[in-house]
Amino acid sequence: MCVVRKSVNMTLRRVALLLSVLYFVTLFNGASLKDRKYKDFLLVTVATNQTDGFQRFLRSAKVYNIPVKVLGLGEKWEGGDVRSHAGGGHKINLLKKELLEHKDDPDKVILFTDSYDVILLSGPDKIVQQFERFDARVVFSAEGFCWPDEGLASKYPAVQRGKRYLNSGGFIGYAPELYNVVTSTAVANDDDDQLFYTKVYLNEELRDKFRIKLDHRSDIFQNLNGAIADVELMFRGQEAYLQNTVYSTAPLVIHGNGPSKLVLNTLGNYLANSWNPEDGCLSCWDDSVVLEDKDPKSYPIVLIAVFIEQPTPFLEEFLDKLYHIEYPREKLHLFVHNSAEFHAELVEDFLSQHGEEYRTIKRINPSHKTKESEARSLAINYCLTVECEYYLNLDSDAHLDNPHALRLLIEQNRSVVAPLLLRPYKAWSNFWGALTADGFYARSMDYMEIIHNDRRGVWNVPYVNSCYLIKGALIRHPELKPSYMYNQLDADMAFCTNMREKDVFMYVTNRVDFGHLVNADNFDTSRVNSEIYQLLDNRWDWEQRYLHENYTENFNPNNTIAQPCPDVYWFPVVNPRFCKEFIEIMEHYGQWSDGTNKDPRLDGGYENVPTRDIHMKQVGLEAHWLEVLRLYVRPLQELVFTGYFHDPPRAFMNFVVRYRPEEQPSLRPHHDSSTYTINVALNRPKIDYEGGGCRFIRYNCSVTDTRLGWMLMHPGRLTHYHEGLPVTKGTRYIMISFVDP
Ligand SMILES: *[C@@H]1O[C@H](CO)[C@@H](O)[C@H](O)[C@H]1NC(C)=O
Ligand SMILES: *[C@@H]1O[C@H](CO)[C@@H](O)[C@H](O)[C@H]1NC(C)=O
Ligand SMILES: *[C@@H]1O[C@H](CO)[C@@H](O)[C@H](O)[C@H]1NC(C)=O
Ligand SMILES: *[C@@H]1O[C@H](CO)[C@@H](O)[C@H](O)[C@H]1NC(C)=O
Ligand SMILES: *[C@@H]1O[C@H](CO)[C@@H](O)[C@H](O)[C@H]1NC(C)=O
Repeated sequence: MCVVRKSVNMTLRRVALLLSVLYFVTLFNGASLKDRKYKDFLLVTVATNQTDGFQRFLRSAKVYNIPVKVLGLGEKWEGGDVRSHAGGGHKINLLKKELLEHKDDPDKVILFTDSYDVILLSGPDKIVQQFERFDARVVFSAEGFCWPDEGLASKYPAVQRGKRYLNSGGFIGYAPELYNVVTSTAVANDDDDQLFYTKVYLNEELRDKFRIKLDHRSDIFQNLNGAIADVELMFRGQEAYLQNTVYSTAPLVIHGNGPSKLVLNTLGNYLANSWNPEDGCLSCWDDSVVLEDKDPKSYPIVLIAVFIEQPTPFLEEFLDKLYHIEYPREKLHLFVHNSAEFHAELVEDFLSQHGEEYRTIKRINPSHKTKESEARSLAINYCLTVECEYYLNLDSDAHLDNPHALRLLIEQNRSVVAPLLLRPYKAWSNFWGALTADGFYARSMDYMEIIHNDRRGVWNVPYVNSCYLIKGALIRHPELKPSYMYNQLDADMAFCTNMREKDVFMYVTNRVDFGHLVNADNFDTSRVNSEIYQLLDNRWDWEQRYLHENYTENFNPNNTIAQPCPDVYWFPVVNPRFCKEFIEIMEHYGQWSDGTNKDPRLDGGYENVPTRDIHMKQVGLEAHWLEVLRLYVRPLQELVFTGYFHDPPRAFMNFVVRYRPEEQPSLRPHHDSSTYTINVALNRPKIDYEGGGCRFIRYNCSVTDTRLGWMLMHPGRLTHYHEGLPVTKGTRYIMISFVDP
């Protein structure tokens, strides 16, 4: 099921290996850059935690062979929470110490950037070249907001074109001047770094002395906050790059400051050699592991946590796919929270039949009345109890059709990774590409490409749901442990909000097809055989369960369509399960017409050729049946009665007829008020009943050996005068529609 061919796979691994070797050479041995013009280049950053954003930053540096010095790792951060308050003086003090070592080297160019929300888009050569064009000794990035002290806005020199205000998330300069800037006055760790640099810049004397300029038009630095509309992701061959379309520049460092960090995450899926249209996903291979070659006995222990939070159609298939996940069951713990009484029996059957094959099982039944967020927290804690190495959250609407899904997700080696699941034929998936300002769904620029698999890869996204794998290490981390509580948010929103606030990246992967989502929004469990009623909401699943397995063979040009009588065609349409459940629906409803000419269900109240029947309207299936006519019957009609098109087909008379000897065994010869009639056999001659069949009088031709789930199609009038032959024993059921009366 892996769509990526092995050879490509191997080449990419080699490329990844080569890149990492290059990286270590440059990181630990600056001298290897000696063939470069700017060997005196250093990127300095501050990071106290190795967040996912930090790893992404390092990766981009590695891609462009940029030597990095990381300050503050493992230190306690004293710069305050810059998300909500000013702060960051700590960064300056760390930088001050570092610059002591470089301040006497007048040629040394130091690039300073933040790291959690920064991606590098180019190597030292280009960066220094651009820097030199400024004819300055220090260049700060610029943005459109004056922060943290708006009062200073008027003190800034006016700019004709470009962003006016200083942002301290990125700057570049020669070491001596940078040292002079950071030591110009004292700064406390919890002072604001941006304010500090702003004051230096706004001091005309210092500005001239240190020759400080701002990068107004993003020749080097692109701050995204307030400027998202200025930039566009572009592709040139095997390279994705960022274009600032307002200033016609191609920035070299991108900073997702403030609320723009989610946009940075989206762009980061492509930039710095992550994805391009020629190679596809390159970052997919970062850190990925291979389990496939290993002994299954060595596979990691996984807790699969199943949540049935509402009655969900096709749960039977869901459980079947769960059971058939290709993974040693003795390596799997199972946690099941079922809050739907409707499914109690099915779940109980499943667990009593298969429970023992799993390492352990833990269940929470509807009677416990456990709330969703509480159940999800219990499952996370159960993962700790059983020391799971991975945790698979599996909601009842998430069907893993690919039995290798679990292994493939583990191999991806990400803290949180979801398989892309989609409601078939819809644009509804289990991830969001972007968020609105208040945290709800927004469509990202690449959402449609991803859900249609026009772009395959592993995507950093702000929200995943229904099915995702979490690393046990994250669950055991004292600060990063997932939580399903956040103010009044629903559990899914709370989980993702917490992950985002802790800077844990959530990924969705569509590298291969993993499965699909079932729509549980309109599941009416008061119906008998309620899934039959799901054609409109869950067509794909409905077809899997009810369509005849050879339905599509009808369209195979090699196939000769059966024609038991002249212009009477015969097709497999629905399967035995459909027939059985359909009859059950009718018999449960039970109000068969009385077989007289008086029929209050009809407009005129009169039926010329009455049968014992139940109309689709009476059992709430009229709309569904019309959809059956549109989706499955019409294409067959066009196949055999060439040149007649009627889309959608119309039909007012859609009904199940019951023939039995003691009631109404047969039907006298008649025409139908239809252009064509269909007649689906719902049970079997010689087994369920004897006699019966349909006779076309003009041709003296009868179809008596009707086939279960097969449909007869014939013209309604003039040529196909016909009768129902007597049933002599048992009960015969047929489904009839008069199409295009
Ligand atoms: C951040 O780093 C500090 C110091 O090493 C550590 O105590 C803390 O657990 C880390 N936090 C996260 C979220 O990793
Ligand atoms: C998984 O990824 C982490 C980084 O997130 C890396 O340190 C680790 O080596 C990877 N695991 C394997 C088995 O390669
Ligand atoms: C579908 O067609 C194949 C090949 O003709 C046949 O062997 C199989 O029995 C058919 N399936 C059903 C359910 O009739
Ligand atoms: C039809 O038959 C030909 C010859 O046997 C075969 O090559 C072709 O694949 C068949 N087409 C389909 C759609 O089965
Ligand atoms: C009609 O067909 C039946 C059986 O095939 C045959 O016995 C009968 O004679 C036919 N009737 C006419 C009028 O041809």
